[in-house]
Amino acid sequence: MSVRIVYGEEGVCDAVELLRHGGVVGLPTETVYGLAGNAFDPLAIARIFEAKGRPLTDPLIVHLPAVSWIEQVVQFSSLGQRAIVGKLAEAFWPGPLTLLLPKHPDLPELVTAGSDRVAVRVTAHPLFQKILHRLGSPLAAPSANRFGRISPTSASDVCLELSESIELILDGGPCEHGLESTIVSILGDHLEILRPGPITEDQLKEYGHVSRPGTIVNTPGSLPGHYAPKKRLRIIDSDILSLPPEDRVGLMIFNTSFQEIHGQYAAVEILSSSGDLKQAAANFYGALRRLDQSNVDWILAQPVPEKGIGVAIMDRLRRASYGSLHGKGHQDSNSLVR
Ligand code: TXA
Ligand code: MG
Repeated sequence: MSVRIVYGEEGVCDAVELLRHGGVVGLPTETVYGLAGNAFDPLAIARIFEAKGRPLTDPLIVHLPAVSWIEQVVQFSSLGQRAIVGKLAEAFWPGPLTLLLPKHPDLPELVTAGSDRVAVRVTAHPLFQKILHRLGSPLAAPSANRFGRISPTSASDVCLELSESIELILDGGPCEHGLESTIVSILGDHLEILRPGPITEDQLKEYGHVSRPGTIVNTPGSLPGHYAPKKRLRIIDSDILSLPPEDRVGLMIFNTSFQEIHGQYAAVEILSSSGDLKQAAANFYGALRRLDQSNVDWILAQPVPEKGIGVAIMDRLRRASYGSLHGKGHQDSNSLVR
């Protein structure tokens, strides 16, 4: 299969046409690029899982053009639940917030991997919105990367990940946020952050009691070992100097205040020279991908301050480095850690 990258109005028409016939398309969102298919077409959903090499046990997020569509895919369990969703929607939709709610029985089970809850969000990306309106159906869309790999924040990233398995990518430019949406489970007035993201804990506090799992949890799909580069990745800590001296090392640093750049690194990526966490988030996956493609044996990453969206950056960094720490998930044939 050879993939086409399309743009603008013509690209939107091609994407809608393909989606109408049960196809899947790489589409831009404000967070990361998604691989979209009609949420009510089980064949299209199966194609998403196949193209990503994703286990069928890992459910997909459903995207709506507006909160008014929510009852096509969600069956509220109480008026209170509907009211809290209304408030969150008013505050954060369209935008990078995903809500986990009771699934409507008409939505195919494949989308939620058999779970009775569905993850929904309203994306702010104008091209994605246009496609949803024209198609007239919600779209299921996970991030458009091979399962467990680095998420794509540009059309060319999607091409690198999925050129063998999809035929169309709509190029909408680089993603604004660069990290996946915040996922929140709503139980009564309790909001549990299952995946930290661009909407922060502080922003959610006004809408209910907020909690977040303290450590990496194994909810479906939020496995440690996600977002992983092929090269070995370590977060910089006190035994940074224990790497074999002959190894080529790539460095990912948060800002220019880091003192260790003295030419001993084979490649350096600076996430934000001014130390801005939002900019760092937007650059994070691209920087990780470039280092992964460069001629290095190791990637060392400087931790970022864990506040605001820094919480989400550190979540992704820890998951991305998990395989290197535990000797799993690395395809580099020179790897010392297997
Ligand atoms: O920003 C985003 O959320 C992007 C864009 C494309 O919308 N999407 C995204 O999808 O990150 P994905 O599939 O890469 O990550 C969604 C996460 C997975 O960990 C999945 O297991 C979890 O959400 N998830 C989805 N539906 C769920 C459900 N019904 N119950 C529990 N977890 C769910
Ligand atoms: Mg993903």
